[in-house]
Amino acid sequence: MEKIKVVSLFSGCGGMDLGLEGGFNFLGQKYPKLPFKILYAIDNDFYAVSMYNSNFLHRCELKDVKDIIPYNLPNHHLLIGGFPCQSFSISAQNPPRLGYKDERGKLFFEMINILKVKQPKFFIAENVKGLLSANKKKAFPMIISEFEKAGYHIKYKLLNSSDYGIPQKRERIFIIGFRDIDSYLNFEFPTPTTKSGKKVKLKLVIDKEADKNEKWFFSKRAVDGMMRVREKMNKGREQDLEQQCNTISSHLSKMSLNSTDPVLKINGKFRRFTPREAANIQSFPKNFKLESVSENRQYKAIGNAVPPVMMWHIANSLNLLINSKEKNQKKLYYEKPKQLNLFEFANL
Ligand SMILES: C[S@@+](CC[C@H](N)C(=O)[O-])C[C@H]1O[C@@H](n2cnc3c(N)ncnc32)[C@H](O)[C@@H]1O
Repeated sequence: MEKIKVVSLFSGCGGMDLGLEGGFNFLGQKYPKLPFKILYAIDNDFYAVSMYNSNFLHRCELKDVKDIIPYNLPNHHLLIGGFPCQSFSISAQNPPRLGYKDERGKLFFEMINILKVKQPKFFIAENVKGLLSANKKKAFPMIISEFEKAGYHIKYKLLNSSDYGIPQKRERIFIIGFRDIDSYLNFEFPTPTTKSGKKVKLKLVIDKEADKNEKWFFSKRAVDGMMRVREKMNKGREQDLEQQCNTISSHLSKMSLNSTDPVLKINGKFRRFTPREAANIQSFPKNFKLESVSENRQYKAIGNAVPPVMMWHIANSLNLLINSKEKNQKKLYYEKPKQLNLFEFANL
């Protein structure tokens, strides 16, 4: 099967890219290889790039997206990118949500510039739910209109990872662009794979060994401080092991109990997730290597990632569309012209 050529921007440690390529296992479930081939990947975070490069056969380049000259990029069918979201996130109260007025909020224009020049058949962008309401709800329509002006028909949907076999309630907006109208009309976002009573529980990805290591527990001082403001500020959010975890983010790298990050309470003591547990919550496979960077950097890159299983389902839907399109085209090409019978001929 011919490979679908991809350029990946803001690749981070590669959650989105791994999901796109497929060929991994998570919780005993196989996510088969998909026919996407990443020709070029970039990110400007040294540590995320280092993690990426210890996990893929192709390389991610350490580079600022603003330094890309679109004409120099290889020709590709699909452009992907989870453009930086800090400025759109509801949790980003300090600094306030600047949305597209913030420099980082403008980075999606780099994606637009590439689309305008290279005109791949499709693109996939991912972002936080807060994008829908940022800038008094003005940012999102503006972003969609810019994508349209670049020549694309746009479909978007807010998807929750917990509906797709992932033990995390993570809502993210996926924006997919199609150059041709048929693809736009025929594409369907993946339908949820897990019903409400059957969602994957957090306890399935928790490491019991970590309960024995003091390293992961918060100090008495941190717990006392948190307890003083807990009710008022909704801190110390202990997770129910029988449910799905609240959204984890790059903020996990702050290792703070005095935050809205999800934490565990084990035998009355608060502990943070290990980086491996964070990766499990994000649906990275067990063999995804984290150790090329410090634990702090692991939390950051993993918290920033698109859950590979979530991305696999989206990529699979796009692949189904491309396959059905190819089949139809072949059918049209090979189908013999219909021979009219005399009656039909007479009635022409
Ligand atoms: C939301 S994360 C993307 C995560 C990635 N899609 C994944 O699934 O692992 C956004 C990424 O954009 C990168 N980034 C931010 N500004 C950038 C810039 N100017 N040039 C290139 N990458 C940038 C960050 O380092 C970060 O890794």
